[in-house]
Amino acid sequence: MNATEISAGELDTKTFIEEKAKEIAETVGDGFAINALSGGVDSSVVTLLGHQALGPRLKTYFIDNGIMRQNEPESIAAVFKKLGVRIDIVNAQDKFFKALKGLTDPEEKREAVTQTFYKDVFAKLVKESGAKFLLQGTILTDIDETVAGIKRQHNVFEQLGIDPQKAFGYKILEPLVQLRKDGVRKVGEALGLPPSIYQRMPFPGPALAARVIGEVTPEKIQVVRQATAITEEMLVNTQAFQSMAILHNDRVTGMRDGKRDFGLQIEIRCWDSIDARQARPTELPYALLSQLAQRITGEVPGVVSVTYNMATKPPSTMEAV
Ligand code: XMP
Repeated sequence: MNATEISAGELDTKTFIEEKAKEIAETVGDGFAINALSGGVDSSVVTLLGHQALGPRLKTYFIDNGIMRQNEPESIAAVFKKLGVRIDIVNAQDKFFKALKGLTDPEEKREAVTQTFYKDVFAKLVKESGAKFLLQGTILTDIDETVAGIKRQHNVFEQLGIDPQKAFGYKILEPLVQLRKDGVRKVGEALGLPPSIYQRMPFPGPALAARVIGEVTPEKIQVVRQATAITEEMLVNTQAFQSMAILHNDRVTGMRDGKRDFGLQIEIRCWDSIDARQARPTELPYALLSQLAQRITGEVPGVVSVTYNMATKPPSTMEAV
């Protein structure tokens, strides 16, 4: 597909949607297509666009990897149900936790999540479905980052372990490839997605596995998931670029019910940034930070310490893993 940039300023969403839907429908013809929805902005927009073009001839899967935020699979499926789009949730939690078991190195953890997603889960769905068309929410920034070597791999066939020569006939459709994030958000709004989706803050592909320092276990995910839900709820009105809760690996002494408790530490990060390349901690009011700490220590079992990161990026990165 054409990868000439269309800036958000010059983007005419109505024409864009009509043209892309027509292109998708013509390419797929009488066949059908498949895609994986993550709930992020790009995959949500491409899912709705694909369904406008193909209706039920697009089969959309939401792969529940067990490391998502609170109620994520159900709430995303509910948003799409309201829009008349059926999403099939695939429970693959055990596969992801098995792949993450024993891993502590950040890159190995990222790789385990990526490999399990593509090779173990999605590749099987693609093959079983018989679909020859894959719909992908790739945007121009993804291509730039692949070319610059920032992202390891963009070739989806390679990710899926499909050799296009051998498995003749597979085609990838990337209708958003001319847009950047601001353009994708505009298309999402024009398609009728709710602002809670098209204005969503960034969230990493490796999901909450990126928010647990050290080995990822279902128990640790549960802790960071609860802390994340409280953090996102309390910081929703800050206009920050991104906010997050991180579970540390080491414990610190605290006290609970009059007894010493060697407990868990949660670190909060909240960033002001334009494009994630540089970032500064948001100047949150002391009272808000204090309330946040009260809620996390009061509601998340085992947490005795809550800190707020004050370092800028660089030298920090936004995520801790
Ligand atoms: P860093 O930590 O590199 O993050 O300062 C910059 C932005 O990228 C997001 N991020 C990721 N997104 N997979 C993703 O899809 C990843 O492995 C990943 N690591 C970081 C991060 O949330 C921030 O918005």
